[in-house]
Amino acid sequence: MARPRFHRVRVESVTPVAADGSAVEVTCLVPDELTGAFAFTPGQHVTVRLPVDGRQIRRSYSLCSTPRELVGRGRLRLGVRVVPGGAFSTYAAGELAAGDQLELLSPVGTFGVRFDPARRRHYAAVAAGSGITPVLSLVATALETEPGSRFTVLYGNRAAGSAMFTDELGDLKDRHPRRLHLVHLFSREQPRVGLPRGRLDRDTLEGLFARLLPPAEVDEWFVCGPAGMVDGTRAALAGHGVDPAAVHTELFHPGEPARESRTAPAAGAASGADAVDAVDAVDAVDAVDAVDASEVSVVMDGRVTSVPLEPGRTVLDAVMAARPDVPYSCQTGVCGTCRARVVEGRVRMARTWALSEQDRTAGDILTCQAVPLTARVRIDFDVL
Ligand code: FES
Repeated sequence: MARPRFHRVRVESVTPVAADGSAVEVTCLVPDELTGAFAFTPGQHVTVRLPVDGRQIRRSYSLCSTPRELVGRGRLRLGVRVVPGGAFSTYAAGELAAGDQLELLSPVGTFGVRFDPARRRHYAAVAAGSGITPVLSLVATALETEPGSRFTVLYGNRAAGSAMFTDELGDLKDRHPRRLHLVHLFSREQPRVGLPRGRLDRDTLEGLFARLLPPAEVDEWFVCGPAGMVDGTRAALAGHGVDPAAVHTELFHPGEPARESRTAPAAGAASGADAVDAVDAVDAVDAVDAVDASEVSVVMDGRVTSVPLEPGRTVLDAVMAARPDVPYSCQTGVCGTCRARVVEGRVRMARTWALSEQDRTAGDILTCQAVPLTARVRIDFDVL
Protein backbone atom coordinates (compact mmCIF):
# COMPACT_ATOMS: atom_id res chain seq x y z
CA MET A 1 0.00 0.00 0.00
CA ALA A 2 1.42 3.38 -1.00
CA ARG A 3 1.88 6.04 1.65
CA PRO A 4 -1.05 8.49 1.63
CA ARG A 5 -0.38 11.73 -0.25
CA PHE A 6 -2.28 14.90 -0.95
CA HIS A 7 -3.84 15.39 -4.37
CA ARG A 8 -5.97 18.17 -5.80
CA VAL A 9 -9.45 17.20 -6.92
CA ARG A 10 -12.34 19.23 -8.28
CA VAL A 11 -15.55 19.68 -6.32
CA GLU A 12 -18.61 18.60 -8.27
CA SER A 13 -21.23 19.62 -5.73
CA VAL A 14 -21.95 20.49 -2.11
CA THR A 15 -25.33 19.19 -1.04
CA PRO A 16 -27.25 19.35 2.25
CA VAL A 17 -27.79 15.87 3.69
CA ALA A 18 -29.67 16.73 6.91
CA ALA A 19 -33.10 18.37 6.94
CA ASP A 20 -31.99 20.98 9.49
CA GLY A 21 -28.99 22.00 7.36
CA SER A 22 -26.47 20.69 9.90
CA ALA A 23 -24.58 18.47 7.45
CA VAL A 24 -23.41 18.53 3.83
CA GLU A 25 -22.07 16.02 1.39
CA VAL A 26 -19.05 17.16 -0.63
CA THR A 27 -18.76 15.29 -3.93
CA CYS A 28 -15.33 15.35 -5.55
CA LEU A 29 -14.42 14.29 -9.07
CA VAL A 30 -11.33 12.12 -9.21
CA PRO A 31 -9.51 12.11 -12.57
CA ASP A 32 -8.69 8.71 -14.07
CA GLU A 33 -5.00 9.03 -13.29
CA LEU A 34 -5.78 9.40 -9.57
CA THR A 35 -8.32 6.57 -9.26
CA GLY A 36 -5.61 4.26 -7.92
CA ALA A 37 -4.41 6.84 -5.41
CA PHE A 38 -7.93 7.20 -4.02
CA ALA A 39 -8.84 3.51 -4.06
CA PHE A 40 -10.43 2.76 -0.69
CA THR A 41 -12.30 0.19 1.31
CA PRO A 42 -15.72 1.10 2.75
CA GLY A 43 -15.35 2.67 6.18
CA GLN A 44 -12.18 4.64 5.39
CA HIS A 45 -11.74 8.39 5.62
CA VAL A 46 -9.82 11.18 3.90
CA THR A 47 -8.06 14.24 5.26
CA VAL A 48 -8.80 17.67 3.83
CA ARG A 49 -6.02 20.30 3.85
CA LEU A 50 -7.11 23.92 3.72
CA PRO A 51 -5.18 27.18 4.13
CA VAL A 52 -6.86 29.35 6.79
CA ASP A 53 -5.42 32.65 8.06
CA GLY A 54 -1.90 31.84 6.94
CA ARG A 55 -1.81 28.32 8.35
CA GLN A 56 -2.95 24.97 7.11
CA ILE A 57 -5.74 23.16 8.86
CA ARG A 58 -6.39 19.46 8.39
CA ARG A 59 -9.65 17.65 9.08
CA SER A 60 -10.64 14.04 8.51
CA TYR A 61 -13.99 13.02 7.06
CA SER A 62 -15.36 9.60 6.36
CA LEU A 63 -16.35 8.60 2.85
CA CYS A 64 -20.05 7.88 2.37
CA SER A 65 -19.71 6.70 -1.24
CA THR A 66 -18.70 3.25 -2.46
CA PRO A 67 -15.56 1.98 -4.20
CA ARG A 68 -17.76 1.08 -7.19
CA GLU A 69 -18.83 4.71 -7.51
CA LEU A 70 -15.20 5.79 -7.61
CA VAL A 71 -14.26 3.30 -10.31
CA GLY A 72 -17.44 3.70 -12.36
CA ARG A 73 -18.09 7.43 -12.09
CA GLY A 74 -14.90 8.92 -10.69
CA ARG A 75 -16.72 10.19 -7.65
CA LEU A 76 -15.71 10.42 -4.05
CA ARG A 77 -18.25 11.70 -1.51
CA LEU A 78 -17.50 12.97 2.01
CA GLY A 79 -20.02 13.49 4.79
CA VAL A 80 -19.39 16.71 6.76
CA ARG A 81 -21.27 17.67 9.93
CA VAL A 82 -21.33 21.46 10.23
CA VAL A 83 -19.85 22.51 13.58
CA PRO A 84 -20.38 26.16 14.64
CA GLY A 85 -17.00 27.84 14.22
CA GLY A 86 -15.54 24.74 12.57
CA ALA A 87 -12.79 25.87 10.22
CA PHE A 88 -13.50 23.47 7.40
CA SER A 89 -17.11 22.51 7.98
CA THR A 90 -18.43 26.08 7.96
CA TYR A 91 -16.35 26.80 4.86
CA ALA A 92 -17.70 23.67 3.17
CA ALA A 93 -21.31 24.53 3.99
CA GLY A 94 -21.06 28.26 3.27
CA GLU A 95 -18.45 28.87 0.58
CA LEU A 96 -17.26 25.72 -1.12
CA ALA A 97 -18.91 25.32 -4.50
CA ALA A 98 -18.85 23.28 -7.69
CA GLY A 99 -15.65 23.88 -9.64
CA ASP A 100 -13.52 24.65 -6.58
CA GLN A 101 -10.42 22.59 -5.88
CA LEU A 102 -9.84 20.63 -2.69
CA GLU A 103 -6.65 19.07 -1.40
CA LEU A 104 -7.39 15.55 -0.20
CA LEU A 105 -5.07 13.00 1.35
CA SER A 106 -5.62 9.54 -0.06
CA PRO A 107 -7.93 7.38 2.09
CA VAL A 108 -6.78 5.62 5.26
CA GLY A 109 -8.44 3.74 8.10
CA THR A 110 -9.14 0.23 9.30
CA PHE A 111 -12.88 0.40 10.04
CA GLY A 112 -14.78 -2.22 8.05
CA VAL A 113 -14.27 -5.58 6.40
CA ARG A 114 -13.57 -6.82 2.91
CA PHE A 115 -16.83 -8.01 1.41
CA ASP A 116 -17.00 -11.24 -0.53
CA PRO A 117 -19.80 -12.05 -3.02
CA ALA A 118 -19.74 -15.69 -1.89
CA ARG A 119 -20.61 -14.89 1.72
CA ARG A 120 -24.03 -14.89 3.38
CA ARG A 121 -23.85 -12.76 6.47
CA HIS A 122 -25.98 -10.71 8.77
CA TYR A 123 -24.23 -7.43 9.48
CA ALA A 124 -25.43 -4.91 12.03
CA ALA A 125 -24.41 -1.29 12.55
CA VAL A 126 -24.93 0.94 15.56
CA ALA A 127 -24.36 4.55 14.50
CA ALA A 128 -24.96 7.93 16.12
CA GLY A 129 -25.07 11.29 14.36
CA SER A 130 -22.39 11.65 11.70
CA GLY A 131 -21.26 8.14 12.59
CA ILE A 132 -23.64 7.05 9.86
CA THR A 133 -21.21 8.36 7.19
CA PRO A 134 -18.83 5.37 6.97
CA VAL A 135 -21.70 3.03 7.81
CA LEU A 136 -23.56 4.22 4.71
CA SER A 137 -20.59 3.20 2.56
CA LEU A 138 -20.43 -0.18 4.30
CA VAL A 139 -24.17 -0.82 3.93
CA ALA A 140 -24.31 0.18 0.26
CA THR A 141 -21.22 -1.89 -0.56
CA ALA A 142 -22.43 -4.96 1.33
CA LEU A 143 -25.83 -4.87 -0.34
CA GLU A 144 -24.38 -4.46 -3.83
CA THR A 145 -21.50 -6.92 -3.55
CA GLU A 146 -22.85 -9.67 -1.27
CA PRO A 147 -26.25 -10.66 -2.65
CA GLY A 148 -26.74 -13.27 0.07
CA SER A 149 -26.10 -10.89 2.96
CA ARG A 150 -28.33 -8.53 4.89
CA PHE A 151 -27.80 -5.48 7.10
CA THR A 152 -29.54 -4.10 10.17
CA VAL A 153 -28.81 -0.45 11.02
CA LEU A 154 -29.63 1.17 14.36
CA TYR A 155 -29.22 4.90 13.79
CA GLY A 156 -29.54 7.37 16.66
CA ASN A 157 -29.98 11.16 16.49
CA ARG A 158 -31.36 13.88 18.69
CA ALA A 159 -34.16 14.58 16.23
CA ALA A 160 -35.23 13.57 12.76
CA GLY A 161 -33.98 16.89 11.34
CA SER A 162 -30.36 16.23 12.26
CA ALA A 163 -30.26 12.69 10.86
CA MET A 164 -27.87 12.48 7.90
CA PHE A 165 -28.41 10.67 4.59
CA THR A 166 -32.01 9.68 5.33
CA ASP A 167 -32.92 9.91 1.61
CA GLU A 168 -30.01 7.73 0.53
CA LEU A 169 -30.71 5.22 3.29
CA GLY A 170 -34.37 5.24 2.25
CA ASP A 171 -33.40 4.57 -1.38
CA LEU A 172 -31.27 1.63 -0.28
CA LYS A 173 -34.19 0.35 1.77
CA ASP A 174 -36.50 0.65 -1.27
CA ARG A 175 -34.04 -1.25 -3.46
CA HIS A 176 -33.38 -3.96 -0.87
CA PRO A 177 -36.53 -4.16 1.28
CA ARG A 178 -35.78 -7.65 2.57
CA ARG A 179 -32.07 -7.18 3.08
CA LEU A 180 -31.89 -3.81 4.84
CA HIS A 181 -33.59 -3.24 8.18
CA LEU A 182 -33.32 0.39 9.26
CA VAL A 183 -34.24 1.57 12.76
CA HIS A 184 -34.13 5.30 13.58
CA LEU A 185 -33.99 6.42 17.21
CA PHE A 186 -34.46 10.00 18.39
CA SER A 187 -33.53 11.12 21.88
CA ARG A 188 -35.48 14.39 21.82
CA GLU A 189 -38.49 13.46 19.78
CA GLN A 190 -41.45 11.23 20.32
CA PRO A 191 -41.17 8.36 17.86
CA ARG A 192 -43.97 6.92 15.80
CA VAL A 193 -46.00 4.25 17.54
CA GLY A 194 -44.09 1.01 17.88
CA LEU A 195 -40.65 2.53 17.41
CA PRO A 196 -38.16 2.71 20.27
CA ARG A 197 -37.19 6.03 21.78
CA GLY A 198 -34.03 7.26 23.37
CA ARG A 199 -30.29 7.53 23.15
CA LEU A 200 -28.29 4.61 21.91
CA ASP A 201 -27.21 3.73 25.43
CA ARG A 202 -26.91 0.33 26.98
CA ASP A 203 -30.53 0.17 28.22
CA THR A 204 -31.88 1.10 24.81
CA LEU A 205 -29.63 -1.42 23.12
CA GLU A 206 -30.72 -4.18 25.48
CA GLY A 207 -34.33 -3.41 24.58
CA LEU A 208 -33.53 -3.51 20.86
CA PHE A 209 -31.59 -6.75 21.23
CA ALA A 210 -34.57 -8.32 22.99
CA ARG A 211 -37.19 -7.08 20.52
CA LEU A 212 -35.48 -6.75 17.16
CA LEU A 213 -31.92 -7.87 16.96
CA PRO A 214 -30.70 -10.88 18.97
CA PRO A 215 -26.89 -10.51 18.97
CA ALA A 216 -26.51 -14.23 18.37
CA GLU A 217 -28.07 -13.73 14.91
CA VAL A 218 -25.45 -11.18 13.79
CA ASP A 219 -22.11 -12.15 12.26
CA GLU A 220 -20.31 -8.81 12.35
CA TRP A 221 -20.95 -5.46 14.01
CA PHE A 222 -19.97 -1.93 12.99
CA VAL A 223 -20.17 0.68 15.73
CA CYS A 224 -19.54 4.37 15.03
CA GLY A 225 -20.19 7.42 17.18
CA PRO A 226 -19.00 9.19 20.33
CA ALA A 227 -16.70 7.27 22.68
CA GLY A 228 -19.40 6.72 25.31
CA MET A 229 -21.76 5.15 22.79
CA VAL A 230 -19.01 3.01 21.28
CA ASP A 231 -17.85 1.79 24.70
CA GLY A 232 -21.43 1.12 25.84
CA THR A 233 -22.19 -0.87 22.72
CA ARG A 234 -18.99 -2.89 23.07
CA ALA A 235 -19.88 -3.68 26.69
CA ALA A 236 -23.47 -4.62 25.78
CA LEU A 237 -22.27 -6.95 23.04
CA ALA A 238 -19.65 -8.50 25.30
CA GLY A 239 -22.41 -9.16 27.80
CA HIS A 240 -24.14 -11.23 25.14
CA GLY A 241 -21.01 -13.23 24.46
CA VAL A 242 -20.19 -11.55 21.12
CA ASP A 243 -16.58 -12.16 20.05
CA PRO A 244 -14.72 -8.79 20.24
CA ALA A 245 -13.09 -9.63 16.89
CA ALA A 246 -16.56 -9.40 15.31
CA VAL A 247 -17.09 -5.86 16.60
CA HIS A 248 -15.54 -3.14 14.40
CA THR A 249 -15.51 0.29 15.98
CA GLU A 250 -14.87 3.85 14.92
CA LEU A 251 -15.15 6.83 17.19
CA PHE A 252 -15.34 10.57 17.05
CA HIS A 253 -15.31 13.24 19.78
CA PRO A 254 -12.93 11.19 21.96
CA GLY A 255 -13.60 13.30 25.05
CA GLU A 256 -11.80 16.27 23.51
CA PRO A 257 -13.10 19.82 23.34
CA ALA A 258 -15.53 20.09 20.42
CA ARG A 259 -13.78 20.08 17.08
CA GLU A 260 -14.84 19.32 13.58
CA SER A 261 -17.16 16.36 13.62
CA ARG A 262 -15.41 13.55 11.94
CA THR A 263 -15.01 9.87 12.29
CA ALA A 264 -11.94 7.82 12.67
CA PRO A 265 -10.93 4.31 13.48
CA ALA A 266 -10.85 3.17 17.07
CA ALA A 267 -10.10 -0.46 16.75
CA GLY A 268 -8.02 -0.49 19.89
CA ALA A 269 -7.94 1.24 23.24
CA ALA A 270 -5.07 2.48 25.34
CA SER A 271 -4.64 -0.81 27.10
CA GLY A 272 -2.76 -4.01 26.69
CA ALA A 273 0.54 -2.26 25.95
CA ASP A 274 2.52 -4.88 27.81
CA ALA A 275 2.30 -7.25 24.89
CA VAL A 276 4.37 -4.93 22.76
CA ASP A 277 8.06 -4.41 23.25
CA ALA A 278 8.46 -1.22 21.26
CA VAL A 279 5.35 0.59 22.39
CA ASP A 280 3.90 1.66 25.73
CA ALA A 281 0.67 3.52 26.29
CA VAL A 282 -0.22 5.86 29.12
CA ASP A 283 -3.21 7.96 29.95
CA ALA A 284 -1.64 11.38 29.55
CA VAL A 285 1.47 12.84 27.99
CA ASP A 286 2.37 14.41 31.35
CA ALA A 287 2.86 10.97 32.84
CA VAL A 288 5.46 10.03 30.27
CA ASP A 289 8.93 9.29 31.56
CA ALA A 290 10.63 10.18 28.31
CA VAL A 291 14.37 10.55 27.78
CA ASP A 292 15.92 14.02 27.85
CA ALA A 293 17.25 14.08 24.33
CA SER A 294 16.61 11.82 21.41
CA GLU A 295 17.35 11.42 17.79
CA VAL A 296 14.61 10.23 15.51
CA SER A 297 15.43 8.62 12.19
CA VAL A 298 12.55 8.41 9.80
CA VAL A 299 12.31 6.26 6.69
CA MET A 300 9.84 7.68 4.21
CA ASP A 301 9.71 7.11 0.46
CA GLY A 302 12.96 5.19 0.72
CA ARG A 303 14.83 8.18 2.12
CA VAL A 304 16.22 8.30 5.66
CA THR A 305 16.19 11.58 7.58
CA SER A 306 17.54 12.00 11.11
CA VAL A 307 16.30 14.80 13.33
CA PRO A 308 16.85 15.76 16.98
CA LEU A 309 13.83 15.63 19.25
CA GLU A 310 13.46 17.94 22.24
CA PRO A 311 11.86 16.63 25.44
CA GLY A 312 8.09 16.91 25.49
CA ARG A 313 7.79 16.93 21.71
CA THR A 314 6.26 14.07 19.82
CA VAL A 315 7.87 12.04 17.09
CA LEU A 316 5.50 13.70 14.62
CA ASP A 317 6.67 17.16 15.75
CA ALA A 318 10.25 16.21 14.91
CA VAL A 319 9.41 14.56 11.61
CA MET A 320 7.24 17.49 10.47
CA ALA A 321 10.16 19.89 10.87
CA ALA A 322 12.32 17.88 8.47
CA ARG A 323 9.78 16.16 6.24
CA PRO A 324 6.74 18.43 5.86
CA ASP A 325 5.07 15.88 3.58
CA VAL A 326 4.59 13.47 6.50
CA PRO A 327 0.95 12.33 6.68
CA TYR A 328 -1.12 13.44 9.69
CA SER A 329 -4.48 14.94 10.49
CA CYS A 330 -6.14 15.02 13.93
CA GLN A 331 -3.00 14.96 16.13
CA THR A 332 -5.16 13.50 18.91
CA GLY A 333 -4.67 9.79 18.37
CA VAL A 334 -8.00 9.22 16.66
CA CYS A 335 -7.64 9.20 12.89
CA GLY A 336 -4.60 6.94 12.39
CA THR A 337 -3.27 9.03 9.48
CA CYS A 338 0.16 9.47 11.13
CA ARG A 339 0.75 5.75 11.66
CA ALA A 340 4.25 4.35 11.21
CA ARG A 341 6.27 1.43 12.59
CA VAL A 342 9.03 1.49 15.18
CA VAL A 343 11.96 -0.52 13.85
CA GLU A 344 14.52 0.52 16.45
CA GLY A 345 14.17 1.86 20.01
CA ARG A 346 11.05 2.33 22.09
CA VAL A 347 8.32 4.94 22.36
CA ARG A 348 5.43 5.62 24.67
CA MET A 349 2.07 6.86 23.46
CA ALA A 350 -0.51 8.93 25.29
CA ARG A 351 -3.40 7.61 23.20
CA THR A 352 -3.77 4.68 20.89
CA TRP A 353 -7.39 4.86 19.82
CA ALA A 354 -6.54 4.38 16.16
CA LEU A 355 -4.51 1.21 16.65
CA SER A 356 -5.80 -2.32 16.98
CA GLU A 357 -4.12 -4.86 19.20
CA GLN A 358 -2.72 -6.42 16.03
CA ASP A 359 -1.22 -3.07 14.92
CA ARG A 360 0.38 -2.60 18.29
CA THR A 361 1.82 -6.09 18.33
CA ALA A 362 3.40 -5.36 14.95
CA GLY A 363 5.09 -2.28 16.46
CA ASP A 364 2.88 0.29 14.74
CA ILE A 365 2.62 3.65 16.45
CA LEU A 366 0.75 6.91 16.13
CA THR A 367 3.59 9.35 15.65
CA CYS A 368 1.44 12.23 16.90
CA GLN A 369 1.19 10.50 20.28
CA ALA A 370 4.65 8.99 20.54
CA VAL A 371 7.54 10.25 22.66
CA PRO A 372 10.84 8.34 22.76
CA LEU A 373 11.87 6.16 25.68
CA THR A 374 15.29 5.50 24.18
CA ALA A 375 18.05 7.81 22.96
CA ARG A 376 17.56 6.65 19.40
CA VAL A 377 14.32 5.79 17.67
CA ARG A 378 13.95 4.74 14.08
CA ILE A 379 10.51 4.71 12.50
CA ASP A 380 9.45 3.54 9.08
CA PHE A 381 6.47 4.85 7.11
CA ASP A 382 7.21 2.63 4.12
CA VAL A 383 6.65 -0.79 5.68
CA LEU A 384 2.91 -0.34 6.32
S1 FES B 1 -2.70 12.46 13.25
FE1 FES B 1 -4.57 11.43 13.76
S2 FES B 1 -3.88 9.77 14.99
FE2 FES B 1 -2.07 10.93 14.65
